Amino acid sequence: MRILMVCLGNICRSPSAEGVLRYKLNQAGLADKVFVDSAGIGGWHEGDAPDKRAQKAAKNRGYEIANLRARQIQPDDFSSFDVILGMDNNNIKALKQMPQGTAVVDLFLNYALAEQAEVDDPYYGDMQDFDQMLNYLEAGCDAIIQRLKGQL
Ligand code: 4NP
Repeated sequence: MRILMVCLGNICRSPSAEGVLRYKLNQAGLADKVFVDSAGIGGWHEGDAPDKRAQKAAKNRGYEIANLRARQIQPDDFSSFDVILGMDNNNIKALKQMPQGTAVVDLFLNYALAEQAEVDDPYYGDMQDFDQMLNYLEAGCDAIIQRLKGQL
């Protein structure tokens, strides 16, 4: 099982989602069954570490994401991943405009919690927005773990 988290820049939401899900997979004993990665719709931050605020918010809750590096989504990702999860409706729109493969493309919170809700971009916000982002990511990743437990 291969899951790709996607946001616009791959420096705030999707690397945080990758870090949270990886941590929870480890805790659940599913780390060897699920591969998780993240990518951005855009390539502006290619090679960059996550935003410092995202790193700090993650670290406050015990997640380590400083070693992650941004990359842009590639055509191959649509075949090499089983599930591609976009953080907001703009991400989904952009993903659906790319050549599709075998991967299921879905909104993160819809896939996780069957909620048509977005994880808002915290980039122009403050630490409170990064904390709110993590609340959503944790709730979603908890639900994904439950779902995977039933599947794997
Ligand atoms: P992310 O946030 O999509 O959660 O990584 C953003 C980061 C950077 C930009 C946009 C969104 N940007 O335009 O540089």
